[in-house]
Amino acid sequence: MLSNQAADPGKRKSLHGHWSSRMAFILAVTGSAVGLGNIWKFPYVAGQNGGGAFVLVYLACVAIIGLPVMMSEILLGRRGRRNPIATMGLLGAEEGKSENWKVVGAMGVMAGVLILSFYAVIGGWTLAYVFKSASGAFTGASAAEIAAISNRFTGSWMSLGLYHTIFMGLSIFVVARGVERGLEQAVRFMVPALLFLMIVLLAYSINSGYFGQGLEFMFSPDWSKLTWDTVLAAMGQAFFTLSIGMGAVMAYGAYLPEETSISGSSAAVAIADTSIATLAGLVIFPLVFANGLNPGEGPGLVFATLPMAFGQMTGGVIFGTLFFVLLTFAAWTSAISLMEPAVAWIVERFNHTRAQAAMLIGGLIWAAGFGTVLSFNVLADFKFWRGTIFDNLDHLSINIMLPLGGLLIVVFAGWVMCRNSSADELGGAGTIYRLWRVLARFVAPIGILFVFLKAVGLLPDLS
Ligand code: PHE
Repeated sequence: MLSNQAADPGKRKSLHGHWSSRMAFILAVTGSAVGLGNIWKFPYVAGQNGGGAFVLVYLACVAIIGLPVMMSEILLGRRGRRNPIATMGLLGAEEGKSENWKVVGAMGVMAGVLILSFYAVIGGWTLAYVFKSASGAFTGASAAEIAAISNRFTGSWMSLGLYHTIFMGLSIFVVARGVERGLEQAVRFMVPALLFLMIVLLAYSINSGYFGQGLEFMFSPDWSKLTWDTVLAAMGQAFFTLSIGMGAVMAYGAYLPEETSISGSSAAVAIADTSIATLAGLVIFPLVFANGLNPGEGPGLVFATLPMAFGQMTGGVIFGTLFFVLLTFAAWTSAISLMEPAVAWIVERFNHTRAQAAMLIGGLIWAAGFGTVLSFNVLADFKFWRGTIFDNLDHLSINIMLPLGGLLIVVFAGWVMCRNSSADELGGAGTIYRLWRVLARFVAPIGILFVFLKAVGLLPDLS
């Protein structure tokens, strides 16, 4: 019997090594969580969905759905110690239920591939802006000039495709080397540095004269703007930003030492992640209003607002370049985790090396990425269902597959798994455990289902 299949879950070992410490794990999960979701996506979906009400629903989803799902995912990962597909199958069988739970893992692997196919394109866009900032292209530029730079860039499938290719190359490179090496160091430096730059930007936006307006847009809810589709988007954003519902955190949990506290680590990650997203909003919305831009303008929002701030501040070339470098790093450490479930699966299932698996999966994602590249130019008018190819990938993976994956994960951890097994991983049956269990068994699953059913119109309104 292989050691990683040991009957005693406490004795199982991952085939891919383990994190060197509790801090290394927290950094890795934070590296996965903090990314384009916080700085690129959060402000623009909040803007498209009317601000305040969306933001409050999102925060509530992080606390009462996101946290229990994250804890469930890590506990399943650590107990199974294998790739998410094998872990779900193994635990399903071990709990005396079906091995078919591995379908949840498979759906996660698929969601990771779909998400990274567009995530890498935006990561490439970020990378391109490192060079644009450094060249001084934004210095003193007007809103119209900055919009023109952005349109010229996304309008050319070759430019967008080139940077997408570089970004995917970088991701494949790190995944091929193994998760621990390099990644740990990158995150240790990146998260604090990113936080520092966000604070510099915050000072700038406070001085813009429109801070109050930005604050109001973000936090004063206009409930009339809230539809069930908006609530679904807020819930999807909570899953996306925390990297949950697709097995990334489960894969990382598989490399977690036995004694580390799962609840403490999850809370630390959720707090860091939410703070960075909130800061991003506080920086971006005042700039939107100060420059007469539209908060609902969509995926180009960060690329329209921040360069303007950098273009006007002293030292803007340096700060701007540094900011886009850090954002590229943040995207990079997330991209790696989007690939990890698929790569770990290929390595374990087909006995390939990590390098082979990373190239195989990465190559597939790279090719699929051209669907998104073309959505911004050649195929911009090719629309169905939710809009362009990019819009559909985004909605399907983030708003549907992640919450569905999260639903099945909490149902498994809360209902299928026996109490002893989950208490064993969560450090005994104390208050935190009881709270987790109520959230995982009732609040999270009912909440997710309710939002789904409402959004597709299957539940009638009571009023
Ligand atoms: N959480 C990452 C971000 O906010 C994206 C991500 C989603 C990473 C799912 C891994 C898994 O950018």
